Order: sequence, then structure tokens, then C-alpha cells
Amino acid sequence: MTNPGSAALSDRVTDAFSDRDLVVVSNRQPYAHDYDDGEITVSRPAGGLTAGLDPVMQRAEGTWIAWGDGDADFEVADEEGRVRVPPDDPSYTLSRVRLSEEDVEGYYYGYSNRALWPLCHGMIGTARCDGRDFEHYRQVNRRFADAVVDRIDDDDDALIWFQDYHFGLAPRMVRGDVGGAVLTQFWHIPWPTWDTFRVCPSAETIVASLLANDLLVFHTPEYVGNFLDCVEAAVPEATVDRSNGAVAYDDHTTTVVAFPLGVDAGRITDLAERDAWPDLERRHRLEDRTIALGVDRLDYTKGIPERIDALERFFEDHPERRGDLTYVQKGTGSREEIEAYQHLQDRVDRSIERVNDRFGTDDWRPIIRVQEHLPKEELYALYRHSDLALVTPLRDGMNLVAKEFVAAQLDSEGVLLLSEFAGAHEELGDDAVTINPYDTQGVADAIDRALALPEEERRERMTTLRERVNSYDLVAWMDDVLSAALDCEGNRDEIVSEHA
Ligand code: G6P
Repeated sequence: MTNPGSAALSDRVTDAFSDRDLVVVSNRQPYAHDYDDGEITVSRPAGGLTAGLDPVMQRAEGTWIAWGDGDADFEVADEEGRVRVPPDDPSYTLSRVRLSEEDVEGYYYGYSNRALWPLCHGMIGTARCDGRDFEHYRQVNRRFADAVVDRIDDDDDALIWFQDYHFGLAPRMVRGDVGGAVLTQFWHIPWPTWDTFRVCPSAETIVASLLANDLLVFHTPEYVGNFLDCVEAAVPEATVDRSNGAVAYDDHTTTVVAFPLGVDAGRITDLAERDAWPDLERRHRLEDRTIALGVDRLDYTKGIPERIDALERFFEDHPERRGDLTYVQKGTGSREEIEAYQHLQDRVDRSIERVNDRFGTDDWRPIIRVQEHLPKEELYALYRHSDLALVTPLRDGMNLVAKEFVAAQLDSEGVLLLSEFAGAHEELGDDAVTINPYDTQGVADAIDRALALPEEERRERMTTLRERVNSYDLVAWMDDVLSAALDCEGNRDEIVSEHA
């Protein structure tokens, strides 16, 4: 089978980045160096976007600025924290920022993950917007901004691409120092309504800083609309043109657009085609079971305990399914220093135990937890051979698990159950079974409906989903973002010449 998806970036984008600086700024790094038994080893993080940007950076020979969180990171780097990567065949520079424990506590755990993360996911009750954390956030953003400025110097041609909510302040800092560069930011998580974001004591500072970007990208038009509402409320001096997402503020125009992030469908197809299933199936005793799958970072936004409650209700209502339907939970620990995440872990553990104690028998457990690390070919085999995917976040910027499941469904027999509060619902909702994760009975009934769908309908739905996921993949998305950034530069040149 040939790979789906767009094979490469367009000529326009490829040409543009063959002779200009591309600088990516993200909290997580593309390669980490750690000690293992006294030896230095290199690992690559799991994130799809990080993996997808790596080949673009290799071609552009750019610079990637990120937090050096590996314990051997600065051992292998020069005095400025720079190391050439990929380690096997170096072509670009990874410039590591060293953060102290206090920085990590205030900037990463504190303001990024105790304040902005819950707020952007609409969870006001969980948010703690401590001014002391904000100071650390500001200082760390300054350090990253300085690293950008050092790197590009006076190079007006450079394109700086900030990733995510860790860098709410860096764009304005960089703009103040190097006026000419093109600044782009991709906000990976939702942007909430003004009624929620106004809880943040620094709302105005953050919104005004993001307006130092030339291009600001969200996943969906809803988040764009929410952001523009926040601009109008928090920065009344700005002029918002909703017809084209243009915001004029401080002698500068920011284009605010929605491009929904895609997955590397070609790579997932390759991996799902490998024959990793029989071994995995045997190891976890999944032979002849109907499988419902959940794959999540253990985060309270993902709706995991709520999903398990719904499964419990389903087994209560459908005794005929006991002994057959098996829910497989693949969870990865996350941000474990934060209390809300510790509570979540306890809640998930207790819920799984409760359901297994209540319904389990000698030869069947309703919930199987996969704790071991799964190599990618096993993970995608699991996606491929699952009958249902339960993607039930309470709120999620996009949720790439939904798209990965679809991309791995080579036989088009599975059904996607998808929360209406995931960004992915906008694109995939019509052919998924939509659920409201807050409605326990509704989710239990949806599981029953999904299992009862006739084969033909399942195939039709999955085929349509696959067309969407395979055609607008990670490369197509990247091409859109980088082309839009080049357009912003073009528009700026026009404005300059009009005023010349
Ligand atoms: C979300 C964020 C990413 C982040 C990832 C993992 O997807 O949008 O920026 O990298 O979670 O979280 P962590 O805090 O471990 O980087």
C-alpha cells in the first residue's frame, strides 16, 4: 500500500527556507541527553509535532531553542548550551536553555501548568494564578527571548516560530529587540472565553504580548473567536477585523488564523502495517475480545475517571457484554509534581480497581491497564485492532489520539467515539459517535450504539474519517502555517511600501 498524506512541503515553502533562518522555540526539546549507567544516551520525545518538525529543521538547517532538561544535556553542549543534532548526522543547532529548580517550579509547574493550562481548558476552579509564579514565567520567557535575539542578531529575514502556552510573553520581548523578524506562534491548547481568561491577573499583558506575533495560529475557529473577544476586552486600543482575523495594535498587524494540527499519517500507516499485533494480543490476553481503547497522557482534562464511570454503567446495563468487551487503558504519567495530577492518578487507580472488582471473573478483566512502554509499532497495532476508541476529554485543544486511531485503522472496521469538547470534533464529529463526557448514561449508551453499528456503516464512517486525516496531515498543516507566515511578511512589505 502506498503511503497516504502529502509527501513534502510545497516548493514555495521549501525554497523560502533554503536560504533563511528558521528558529523554533519550544519548552520540550527534540533530543535529550541523559546518563544511563554512567553512559550518555540520547532519546527523542514522543510528541508528533516535535517529530514532524525535526526533518523540516534538518532541511532548513535552522536553530531550535528549548529547555535542556536531560541530566547530560550540558555535558555534550558547548558553553552556550548548543549542540548539533540529529546526533547521527548533524544538520541543525539545538540551543539549550538551562533552568534552575526554582525556574522549573515557577515557570513550568507554576504559571504554565497551574495557571494557564487549567484556565485555557476552562477549568477555573483548578487554576492558581500566583503572581510569584508569573515573575518566574516572565524571567524564563526573557531568557528564551534573549536566546532568540542572540541567535538572529540583526537578521531581518529570520522566521521565529514559538510553540505553545509556555511562551506567552517572549514574542513582545523579541519584537522589542529585533523589529524585523517574522514572528509566528502556534497555541497548541484551547483558547477560552473572555469570561474564563479574565480570571488571569496578567490577561492583558499576555494578550498584548501575543499580538507582537505576525501570525498567531490556533486549532479551530472557535479558539480564534475566543481570542479576538479577549483582545477586544483586554486591549481596547487594538482594532479587530473579524472578516480576515487581522488585529492592528501598536503599529503592527497580527493575523489570527485556525489550522487544525494533523498527524503523520504515512508513518502511522507504515507502523500499523507491521505485524506487531499477535505478540501484544497474547501478552495482554486480548485474544477474541472486543476491544475499546483509551490512550492518554494522565491529565485531568482527558476525562479518564468519567470514562471509567461510563464503562461501569455500560457493564451494569449490559450484562451480556461482560466477559467480552475489554477496555484497554494506555496511560502515560505526566506533571506528577502537581497536586491535581496526583489526585487524578489516585482517582484513576481507584476507579479501575472498583470496576475490575465488581465485574471481573477468573478469565476476564473488564479493564486492562497497559503500564509498560509500547514501541510505536505495538501502539499502532493496538489502534488498528481496537473495535472502539474512547476519546472523551472534558476539553482538549485538538486530541491527536483521535486522528492517530483513524490513521491506523487500515481495515476501516473500528468506531471513533469522540467528545464534542475536543478540537478534533470540528473535523471528525460528523463520522464519529459524538459523546458528552459529563453525561455518564449518555456515554454508556453511545458505547452500546457504537458496538451495534452495522459493518457497512462502520466502514463508511471510517473511510470518510480516513480521507480527512490522510489528506490534511502533519506536512499539509505545516505547509499552511509556514505559507501563512510568508504571506504575513508579504503583507507587511506592502504596508511599508504604501507608506514609503
Ligand atoms: C500538551 C502541550 C504540549 C506539551 C504536552 C506534554 O500537548 O500542548 O506543549 O509538551 O502536553 O506535556 P509536558 O508538560 O510533559 O510537556
